[in-house]
Amino acid sequence: MNGDVAASLLSEFDLETETETLPQPAGSSQDELLVLGIETSCDETCASILRGKDNVLANVISSSADLHRRYGGVVPEVASRAHVQAMNPAIAEALRLADLTLWDMNAIAVTVGPGLVGSLVVGVAAAKALASVLEVPLLPINHLEAHIYANFLEHPDFAPPAVGLIVSGGHSLLVHMQAHGLYDVLGETLDDAAGEAFDKVARYLGLGYPGGPAIDQMALGGNKRAINFPRAVMHRGYDFSFSGLKTAVQDYLRKQEEQGKEVKLEDVCASFQEAVVDVQVHKTIKAAQELMVSTVFVSGGVASNSRLRELMSAMCAENDLRLHYPSPEYCTDNAAMVACCGHFRYIRGIRADSSISAEPNLHLA
Ligand code: KG4
Ligand code: ZN
Repeated sequence: MNGDVAASLLSEFDLETETETLPQPAGSSQDELLVLGIETSCDETCASILRGKDNVLANVISSSADLHRRYGGVVPEVASRAHVQAMNPAIAEALRLADLTLWDMNAIAVTVGPGLVGSLVVGVAAAKALASVLEVPLLPINHLEAHIYANFLEHPDFAPPAVGLIVSGGHSLLVHMQAHGLYDVLGETLDDAAGEAFDKVARYLGLGYPGGPAIDQMALGGNKRAINFPRAVMHRGYDFSFSGLKTAVQDYLRKQEEQGKEVKLEDVCASFQEAVVDVQVHKTIKAAQELMVSTVFVSGGVASNSRLRELMSAMCAENDLRLHYPSPEYCTDNAAMVACCGHFRYIRGIRADSSISAEPNLHLA
């Protein structure tokens, strides 16, 4: 790219500017737009190719979870090194699956934050290099926003305004999506994220990492009313808290051991899960009612929890609310949701220049 071309591109594609007269890629309508999504915010190296807003041509996920398992959680340096090794092969595999080349791409969308800085920089560097060589727009994406956009991949009728949960290993937020790109964070966790609580409790129970799926599975055979674990900050605003619940599980396990009583893992899992889900569902429904919003969504890794889906579905039906949640493959980290968020930003005319960088503490609003 010569200097003049670069300068004109950069002036046209200023960060966060919107204009009505943006150049469209040759022969490409919005439905044909091809976006390469890149996601490396935690321990999954992901590359996806999206045609239009919801035609996922490839969704490659290379997880380094096996490398972290023995430590009981993600080790940032290990995750970062794994991203370096997996990034190029993941992009190559996505292109192979989509039967396309890099030169077919119209834009590159990449997660810039929040997340682990050493992980984010790998994806950001790859995206910047590609966008520069291919001379296509670079679209910086907020990981939390991408989790919401996972709902657009499968639900043509999903649209703001909507109220929903973003519940993952790193975050627990109750959000009001007023319009594309316009969010109001209604509540957040005061301590651990929901997924983190699942992972920690799974560790106490010897169920391994990641703990969410293991607890979900184990809970299927248990009684959710067996142990009455506390519902933290149930009636205090829209914030969440999980540390008291975590301690209650530890106390319960210790007492059972001291008294020589058997611990029925299935019951502990089902009762713990119910305590987490109960609070989240009730706060979400209350927020939708108070804001008079009729669409509800759930996103993030914990959104694949079967009890959360079941109770949220029942409560939404009871309260005449429309509920959307992604398939499990789009709940946990993936680049299809990043590409989807990129698609909507692209058509809104939002562009970035090559000065973008990883933003580990990026907020949604
Ligand atoms: O969204 P995600 O892949 O990564 C982050 O952005 O953090 O979420 C991962 C989290 C982990 O904590 C994992 O235990 C949890 O999602 N998770 C679940 C389930 N599947 C994944 N938690 C509860 N039930 C599940 N079925
Ligand atoms: Zn995530």
